[in-house]
Amino acid sequence: MKLRECTDADLETLFEHQAHPEVKALAEHPGRERDAFYLHMKTKVLGYPGNTFLVIDVDGAVAGNVCAWHQDGKLWVGYLLGREWWGRGLASRAVAEMLAVHLKERPAYADVAKANLPSQRVLEKNGFVRIGERDDGFDYELK
Ligand SMILES: CC(C)(COP(=O)(O)OP(=O)(O)OC[C@H]1O[C@@H](n2cnc3c(N)ncnc32)[C@H](O)[C@@H]1OP(=O)(O)O)[C@@H](O)C(=O)NCCC(=O)NCCS
Repeated sequence: MKLRECTDADLETLFEHQAHPEVKALAEHPGRERDAFYLHMKTKVLGYPGNTFLVIDVDGAVAGNVCAWHQDGKLWVGYLLGREWWGRGLASRAVAEMLAVHLKERPAYADVAKANLPSQRVLEKNGFVRIGERDDGFDYELK
């Protein structure tokens, strides 16, 4: 696995990842239709000042992404794998590499749906600590 910059050629695979019903269910995010996804990526994500967006590349295949963005004065971390790539330790390794090599700013924050136990594990394995609870999720911080 390696992390690399995202190119236009990656976008269709990344679109398909976030459109998968099981991905949407676990992330508790409705996903975006194709046009909205491309617009979001091109105007709000790629090249947006202060953002990090890296493709998880496994032997030339696009397995998913790790990302970070600033919102409400905080740095937020996110990640998403295509359904066929779950359960191999990829997200844990990708988040670790992003935090070690590409993203040195701290603190960093993440929010996770209560039912998303794999994502909570990914955060805890990377040193995030649960700092709060909402009706629908938990807040995590990495100092
Ligand atoms: C969440 C997601 C990124 C995890 O990716 P992954 O590569 O499968 O995760 P990893 O294999 O690195 O680690 C998953 C951990 O969760 C654990 N896990 C998996 N299913 C679990 C369950 N039902 N209950 C408890 N733990 C579980 C695994 O055992 C593993 O922990 P371990 O290393 O201690 O054994 C992936 O499922 C995904 O893309 N989901 C959709 C998008 C999403 O939810 N993004 C995060 C939004 S906050």
